[in-house]
This record gives sequence, structure tokens and C-alpha cells, in this order.
Amino acid sequence: MSLLAAMMDPEPVEAFFPMIRLAIIPGDGIGPEVMQGVYPLLEWAQNRGRKLEWIAFPYGAEHFLRTGESLSDAHFCALRDGFDAILFGAVGDPRIPDGRHAEQLLLRLRQELELHVNHRPCEPFLDAHVPLKGVRAAEIHIDVFRENTEGPYCMRGFTEADRAVDEAVHTSKAVRILLKAAFEWASRRGCPLTLAHKANVLKHGHGLWMRIFEELREQFPKVTARGMHADALLCNLVQNPRGFGVIAADNFVGDLVSDLLAGFQGGMGMAPSASWAPHRPFRCSALFEPVHGSAPDIAGKGLANPLGMILSTALCFRHMGWLEEAEIIVHLVATTLAEGAGTRDIGGTLMCRELQGLVCDRLISSCA
Ligand code: NAD
Ligand code: IPM
Ligand code: MN
Repeated sequence: MSLLAAMMDPEPVEAFFPMIRLAIIPGDGIGPEVMQGVYPLLEWAQNRGRKLEWIAFPYGAEHFLRTGESLSDAHFCALRDGFDAILFGAVGDPRIPDGRHAEQLLLRLRQELELHVNHRPCEPFLDAHVPLKGVRAAEIHIDVFRENTEGPYCMRGFTEADRAVDEAVHTSKAVRILLKAAFEWASRRGCPLTLAHKANVLKHGHGLWMRIFEELREQFPKVTARGMHADALLCNLVQNPRGFGVIAADNFVGDLVSDLLAGFQGGMGMAPSASWAPHRPFRCSALFEPVHGSAPDIAGKGLANPLGMILSTALCFRHMGWLEEAEIIVHLVATTLAEGAGTRDIGGTLMCRELQGLVCDRLISSCA
């Protein structure tokens, strides 16, 4: 059994809904550029007999500036009840510097769809992408499990003249869901699990994390699980990433760790992510997006690396139970990179569209 098969969601979405409905939200900046590489993948899966349909939505900065809202309640309910998953590009626009449209769109989707689990895998493809001295790509295989809805992302706080307060909320429900998913993943992979925390300072919030971690450790006696202060963990990661398997963290620490790990994969443009609600409170129980943002510095120039988005689509296919399609996409990305093709950020010369075209043409011809 391949690793990908071993990692399959035990209850693929396809088992629940014979026709999968995907909502596509390209968003801002390079979001629409990287999303262009997704449509051929969806058409290809459809041509292989997968039952799926999709609709693209224009939510993002333009929509917000035009209508005054990111996502109306009616549209949110339509996404929640009428789709199985969302493919998301990126959000963020210099015209809205406080990012409130992003809060009302991406953070709302993560929070109100209860997507507590955010999985950000780090499996670099090429040795040349790993900037650590003497470390080969094959030696790194780390799965970050980031809680995706809480901590300081509750967006509560206030600013006074000489004082500013941000609250961080942690609930046992969200923490338990995230940690259980992380333990299950480590158990299936047969790898160690590390909880990144700062319980020495964040006595209340991370104290709760430690208690639930201990509880789950008893339920998963075969998983080698340890807690580590998040600051020390970052130093360890850079010095010896080989010792890590699954890393679980709260929303804030997980955000930082996952960008560090993007740096082990060749950069922000390479890192995919999958978010899901294992307890399935709504029909729409998953969202797939690259780790990167809207990259205003390169937006509109055709320079974006589309692979984080393409690999996020592979994670979506895997979540649906379409293992073969997911494996084929990952394999074609690997062979394309091995032949030296790439965008500028990973040392190549191709434009975003050219790299998308290369991967998608191979996909179609490899399965003809
Ligand atoms: P960013 O990820 O957008 O960019 C960081 C750096 O990485 C930039 O130099 C950018 O050019 C580069 N980069 C990112 N994606 C790339 C790609 N696919 N190909 C090549 N290079 C790429 O992070 P930032 O600059 O801190 O944030 C920009 C905006 O994006 C902000 O508004 C931020 O809030 C938002 N953001 C959104 C998301 C999201 O939608 N999930 C994630 C992170 C940041
Ligand atoms: C990410 C981003 C977001 C986050 C921002 C845009 C709110 O950095 O998806 O990692 O912090 O979660
Ligand atoms: Mn981030």
C-alpha cells in the first residue's frame, strides 16, 4: 500500500455524496492566477468518471469594495449547505489594509464551518529545495496539524491610548478534535507526535492543550508523543528536521511553524493545505488552499508558483476518496520538477501558466 493510500480518510466524502459539489473561490492577488491550474484537473477527474461539479464564486477584495460585504449570510448558507468542499486561492489586498474582508471571508469559513483541523504537509520534492546543510528531501516528512479556528483568531480585543489587548480563546471541543486527528495521523503513519506549545507562559490556554494532550496520549499508547516548547522546537526543526513526524499546534503557533516548513519545501509557493471538520457538522466540511497568501508583490505578473494550489487540489481529491487521481497529480508534479521545470521562486524560468500547462498536459497525455 502506498503512503498516500495509508493516509486516506477512513470515511471518504464520496461515500456520503455520489455527486461531489465543489465551490471555487479564487480570491485576491495571485489567487485567481494559481486557480487557473485547477480547472483542467477537475475536468480530467470528471473525464475519468468521477462525479463532480463545480461553481466559481467572485468573493474577495473586488466584491467587498463593490458590495460592502465579503460574504452575505445567504451566500454563506448556500456554501455551507449546497457544497461538499471549497477550493480557495488566497485573500489579501493592499486596498483593504486592515484585512477585514479576509476576516469576513476566509476566517469566517474556517470558523463557522468548524474546520478545526488544518493539515499542512511538508514533503519536499527535490534536494535542491531544502536549504538545510546536508539534509536531503527524502529525509523530511512532517505533517503539521494546526487548530484552525481559535486562539487569537477569535479577533477579540481592544486598543487604548497606551495599551492594546488581544484575547486568545481555546475550547476543549476544538483542541480535542485537532489533537485526536493528529494522534490518528501519527498512529497511521507510525511516526512520533510533537505538541508545540508555550504552556510555560500561556498557562490558561496552553494549559488546556496540555491536559487534553495527556488524555489522548493514554488513548493512543502506541504513539510516541511529547510536548516541546515552541521556541525550542523551531531551533530543533532547523537543526534536525529528521526527528519529526507529526507536529500539533494551536492556530498561532501552527501558522508560524507551517511557514517555516514551507521554507524547507522550496518556498511559500510549494506548500499545500487541507482543512476539515472530522465531526461533519455541515455538508460543506472541508476547504483546500495553498499555505501562501495573495502575494501582492508579484500579483498580475504571471510569476506565481501554481504548485501549492495544484497539490492542494490533490489533497482535495484524496479527501474525496479519489486516491488514484491524487497520486497521479503528485507523481506528475514530482517528475516535472525532477526535469528542472519550475517558476522563478524555485530557481526555474517558467511563468505560472507555462508550469500549469506542463503539469496539466502531462496529466492528460499520461492517462490517454
Ligand atoms: P504571501 O504568502 O502572500 O507572500 C510572502 C512572500 O512569498 C512574497 O514575497 C510572495 O511573492 C511570495 N510568494 C507567496 N506565494 C507565492 C507563489 N505562489 N509563488 C511565488 N512566490 C510566492 O504573504 P504576505 O506577503 O505576508 O501576505 C500578503 C497578503 O496575503 C496579506 O494580505 C496577507 O494577510 C494575505 N495572506 C493570505 C493567506 C491566505 O489567503 N490563506 C495566507 C497568507 C497571507
Ligand atoms: C494562513 C494565513 C492566514 C492565517 C491569514 C491570511 C489570516 O497566514 O492561511 O496561513 O493567519 O491563518
Ligand atoms: Mn499563514
